[in-house]
Amino acid sequence: MSGIEEPGQVILGKRKDAGPQDKWTAEHVLSMRWWTPALLSFRTTRYRGFRFTPGHYTRLGLGAGDDLVWRPYSVASAAYDDFLEFIAVLVPGGAFSEPLRRLRVGDTIRVDKASYGFLTVDQLAPGKDLWMLSSGTGLGPFLSILRDPTIWQSYERLIVAHSVRHSSELAWRDEIAGIRNGELFAEAKATLTYLPVVTREPGATELTERVPLLLADGRLEAAAACPLDVATSRVLVCGNPEMTRELRQALTARGFATNRRGIPGQMAFEKYW
Ligand SMILES: Cc1cc2nc3c(=O)[nH]c(=O)nc-3n(C[C@H](O)[C@H](O)[C@H](O)COP(=O)(O)OP(=O)(O)OC[C@H]3O[C@@H](n4cnc5c(N)ncnc54)[C@H](O)[C@@H]3O)c2cc1C
Ligand SMILES: NC(=O)c1ccc[n+]([C@@H]2O[C@H](COP(=O)([O-])OP(=O)(O)OC[C@H]3O[C@@H](n4cnc5c(N)ncnc54)[C@H](OP(=O)(O)O)[C@@H]3O)[C@@H](O)[C@H]2O)c1
Repeated sequence: MSGIEEPGQVILGKRKDAGPQDKWTAEHVLSMRWWTPALLSFRTTRYRGFRFTPGHYTRLGLGAGDDLVWRPYSVASAAYDDFLEFIAVLVPGGAFSEPLRRLRVGDTIRVDKASYGFLTVDQLAPGKDLWMLSSGTGLGPFLSILRDPTIWQSYERLIVAHSVRHSSELAWRDEIAGIRNGELFAEAKATLTYLPVVTREPGATELTERVPLLLADGRLEAAAACPLDVATSRVLVCGNPEMTRELRQALTARGFATNRRGIPGQMAFEKYW
């Protein structure tokens, strides 16, 4: 055996080989970014066979033996990146959050070989403006979607709302503003409107109320300078389950529908718990 540690051999200190029959691969943590003591994003190596559509999630596994815990996590990186990126909040006492808190660069994490979900643009009928409404870590899949150059060619406007408790949780704020400047985006026609919403730090942002209320009283559309209309708007919603429930109700009342039996709709949802 060579002195080089092969990817996929060590799971938090315990050896485990992922064979071809396994539904997961063992990947290495390449980098970690702590936005707050309870919010981090991290990059891992990517199994060459791992395929996903922006908006998909996969399952991550930490621990070993009886302590092995799997949880779904949305992919935040681009489909063309040779790494995978995720954002995670640490829930006190959470079965996955606790080993995640101890994770360090170089450690190994299990990644499901498959990706899942319906929070993808191909669930939607063609439209002019794409709204991505998120709370907390629900921003993650939208970062992956924004990193897809074809989205910038298929829509005229991209509107991202990110609701967080504190401004320090406005993850990737600068990256989002800079995506369009990347060399892959030379053909981009869409404009991006980024709407940060900080709910527990008065004065941090112009918008300070929860997203369903901002939608109901017209302030969301005013801030975007764009009407949210079933004829032209397509909406993706991700994060807090109460928020997704309230927005589904509000959008349904405006005539929006989800994909039904393969017929593309005008909205799609992902709730995180
Ligand atoms: C499809 C899907 C995709 C997901 N993608 C992500 C992701 O990209 N990033 C991420 O951090 N989590 C994501 N989650 C949630 C994640 O799978 C775990 O639930 C979370 O990391 C906490 O795991 P836990 O075992 O520590 O606690 P759990 O026992 O799983 O959760 C305990 C409680 O923590 C709260 N909670 C769980 N997840 C979150 C969250 N994301 N934000 C705020 N509160 C939460 C809820 O009140 C929940 O009941 C996703 C969930 C689903 C269903
Ligand atoms: N965020 C933290 O400071 C922090 C620190 C340590 C641990 N945690 C853990 O992380 C979890 C919370 O994470 P989080 O703050 O990312 O998620 P969150 O509680 O869902 O809050 C994220 C954003 O969603 C908003 N929101 C909450 N309920 C909503 C609803 N029904 N409709 C619309 N918007 C809604 C929040 O507004 P409101 O502010 O009005 O609720 C906030 O702006 C908890 O389990 C906690 O234990 C969080």
